[in-house]
Amino acid sequence: MCGIIGYIGNKDACELIIAGLKSLEYRGYDSAGIAVAHSGKLEIRKAEGKIDSLIGKKLFENVAGTGGIGHTRWATHGAPSDENAHPHFDCTKTVAIVHNGIIENYTELRDELKSQKHKFISETDTECIAHLLEGKKDLFAALKELHKKLKGSFAILAISAHDNALYAIRESSPLIIGIAKDELIFASDVPAVLAHTNKVVILEDGDIVKAQDGRYEIYNAHAKNGVERKVRTIDWTYDMAQKGGYAHFMLKEIHEQGIAVRNALKSDIRAAVEFVKNATEIEVVACGTSYHAGLVFQYIMKGLTHKKVSAYIASEYPYTNCSSQGTVAIAISQSGETADTLNAVKIAKANGAKIIAVTNVIGSSLDRLADATCLLYAGPEISVVATKTFIAQLTVLYRIAFECIGKKGGLEEVANVIEDVLTKESEYKKLAQEMKDEEHFFFIGRGIAYPIAMEAALKLKEITYKHAESYAAGELKHGPLSLISDGIPVIAIAPKDETFQKTVNNLEECMARKGKGIAVSEQEIPKARLIRMPAVEAIYAPMVYIVPMQMLAYYIAVANGKDPDRPRNLAKSVTVE
Ligand code: AGP
Repeated sequence: MCGIIGYIGNKDACELIIAGLKSLEYRGYDSAGIAVAHSGKLEIRKAEGKIDSLIGKKLFENVAGTGGIGHTRWATHGAPSDENAHPHFDCTKTVAIVHNGIIENYTELRDELKSQKHKFISETDTECIAHLLEGKKDLFAALKELHKKLKGSFAILAISAHDNALYAIRESSPLIIGIAKDELIFASDVPAVLAHTNKVVILEDGDIVKAQDGRYEIYNAHAKNGVERKVRTIDWTYDMAQKGGYAHFMLKEIHEQGIAVRNALKSDIRAAVEFVKNATEIEVVACGTSYHAGLVFQYIMKGLTHKKVSAYIASEYPYTNCSSQGTVAIAISQSGETADTLNAVKIAKANGAKIIAVTNVIGSSLDRLADATCLLYAGPEISVVATKTFIAQLTVLYRIAFECIGKKGGLEEVANVIEDVLTKESEYKKLAQEMKDEEHFFFIGRGIAYPIAMEAALKLKEITYKHAESYAAGELKHGPLSLISDGIPVIAIAPKDETFQKTVNNLEECMARKGKGIAVSEQEIPKARLIRMPAVEAIYAPMVYIVPMQMLAYYIAVANGKDPDRPRNLAKSVTVE
């Protein structure tokens, strides 16, 4: 969602903030802005639009100063517009703030401030924060008071015209400090600081920070005593967050999936395995692609161990009346910051469940809430759509399931098979060219292939904006078959397992109604076009068969002139419910 950056040091703040905002573009946004302090004044520049176009319009020219804040906004309260873009400022333009999250009590705060004659310029929930800080000589003290007034989730940076300092406050929305020599960089996530440093402090809920002269001071609104936050070294590099010669991050990340499997094999899963072995029941909570990984886990874990495993869409979990002592909840989230997943985890925890986190981000909110964390080690995933983190999630989840029954090996070979599939890129590109004008797609599968049909449809709709549906293959005849007409592509995910023949039958039913049958399989299916898969033990099919589907979605998006890395309306890290 929104991206936050702040810089205080001895270099040109504007240039560094813009570079930081560019590295946060992947989170998804509709407007951008900066505020830089210089000679007792604040220079605020902001507008609707993408950063490159705002640079083209010379919006950020002639802004001097060595301390400032910046923001990419993903609209929640108020449409994308110049006025609603951050930073927001008070009536005197001496305090500017940027904010991620939602202020839930903003209506009453706004009414109160209006009755005190504060003039509002935007429709945002955020602007009231700037007015609440108006006229405060000591912003550090003012933020402590502010914390008591605000309800909701917030990561806020504030800057004043009157001192050479930056201020921050965090509650339920991620915020880190990058620690470099004589300079401090605040950001909503790690890629934005990698150009400066890999040493970071991950702020916690209730943290209020003053940063000045290369030093920082942290007060915590919830802690009884003082706070100490450790400086962590992140093993991500600046280069990892670059395109490295690929046209898009998505394509690069698809190609990194063999490595992603190998790196996820290094994840320490011992504590998680102990919890799972001793669990009376296992619940999985996740959203989107991570939920699909959870569904695959549900199938393989039930098949291998006969344990009770239920995967839930995290936002639906609160309505299921689940969890109790003895339950283990596995929360899957590449970002570790997805609000729906965190909310489900808090409910499960309150009901007595042990929490296992499967995440790519060390120190994320999910990591900190969990009783055991399995890190993915997938490196930064910049494209909004998840690809390599999905494969890494599956690797970790398969390992947990295999450990429960003492099964060894197999996944190293899957990494090689994925790399073999990736060598067929030109075939997938050709198929995408042929299908680029189709408007409707159906994906079907049974058993472990069903979540892959779901993930394939999600990838396609996310980045091509085309209509894609996924069904359990057996469900078609219970309704959706009426949608199949002349030439509509039906893509069957058909590994050679006990589901194969039935899936073939369901594809036949579609082709009999003039649907265009396409099979992702290692075996020919009469009359259907084949996307040939290498022979692989059937249980690994989800990890291999998804790869050509990612490629197909990617090349159809590109053929239609869409940017697969930054799909409209979507954000990488969904920090609101
Ligand atoms: C995947 O391509 C999507 N961007 C989205 O469905 C994503 O998987 C979902 O929002 C969950 O994100 P998380 O893994 O960071 O929790």
